[in-house]
Amino acid sequence: MEQLLQQIEAIKKEIAEATATGQAEVEQYRIKYLGTKGLVKQIMGEMKNVPNDQKKEFGQILNAFKLVAEEKLEQLQAALGDSAEVDDSKDYTLPGDTVTVGTRHPLNLVRNQMVSIFKRLGFAVAEGPEVEDDWHNFGAMNLPADHPARDMQDTFYVQEPNEEGAAWLLRTHTSSVQARVMETQKPPIRVICPGRVYRNETISARAHCFFHQVEGLYIDENVSFADLKQTLYFFVQEMFGKDVKVRFRPSYFPFTEPSAEMDISCQICSGKGCNICKHTGWVEILGSGMVHPNVLKNFGIDTEKYTGFAFGMGVERIAQLKYQVNDLRLYSQNDLRFLQQFKSV
Ligand code: PHE
Repeated sequence: MEQLLQQIEAIKKEIAEATATGQAEVEQYRIKYLGTKGLVKQIMGEMKNVPNDQKKEFGQILNAFKLVAEEKLEQLQAALGDSAEVDDSKDYTLPGDTVTVGTRHPLNLVRNQMVSIFKRLGFAVAEGPEVEDDWHNFGAMNLPADHPARDMQDTFYVQEPNEEGAAWLLRTHTSSVQARVMETQKPPIRVICPGRVYRNETISARAHCFFHQVEGLYIDENVSFADLKQTLYFFVQEMFGKDVKVRFRPSYFPFTEPSAEMDISCQICSGKGCNICKHTGWVEILGSGMVHPNVLKNFGIDTEKYTGFAFGMGVERIAQLKYQVNDLRLYSQNDLRFLQQFKSV
């Protein structure tokens, strides 16, 4: 008797310490303790040797012992969680299906990078509508109804101009967003305006009827052309690396005076001459200038106190130089073979 009780205690201790990391180990446990030839059954078999007057007491001990073993089995099973319900009809060793992860559109990758560079300089992002009125796209930007420079940007009209020149159109540049910012905010103003713009061009490798811009506007006291140059120089160095060269050429925009276009050394051929830079070694990437006083006056900004610079560039052009994409149409054809080459971070 005494010996049997000791044996039971020893097995109980073993049971208490038993662990299982998988279904197979749970099964081993079950066979060892609760199987038809298991330890619980064996001990039960000793019952016949127990003297009659002790049978009742011993029976209770044995039942409690069995219960301990069964409870532990349940615990081990529960600890395995869902994995415990193994479905043998499936082959879990088969390789899984590949999950196709989407990639960001190259224009979004480049736009995001452009935005983050300007954000570091303290520029905030401003957005506005793509269907615009004549005033925000042209009038406020110093392009009155009969201004010849309107022809520079072939406009898609949603509603043709009436006698007063009022019209609805698809914005031809995100300068319209700058107008909306000046309308609602007081200087100092420091914003960039990323967005899609539309121009009535025949679609080809080099032109499309829509493209994307990032325009910028900085108005404060004492803003000078030197600030403009330094800001844009910083931008291209961050975008293309420290070796990039820049040059400014005098230009004309109705909304800036003086105006300049900025070229950078061709990133495709490193200035040696190629198709992209038309063998000049330079590629134009943006238009810029000091905000025309007429524009500031349109928004009641004191031109004695404030000056500002503005710039505008095409995201496609920057992306072309970064990724050597030579056909603008690729950006809007949704060809996965093209899109999947651009891995987002
Ligand atoms: N709005 C001009 C364009 O779309 C770009 C520009 C912006 C030029 C600001 C000068 C200053 O072509």
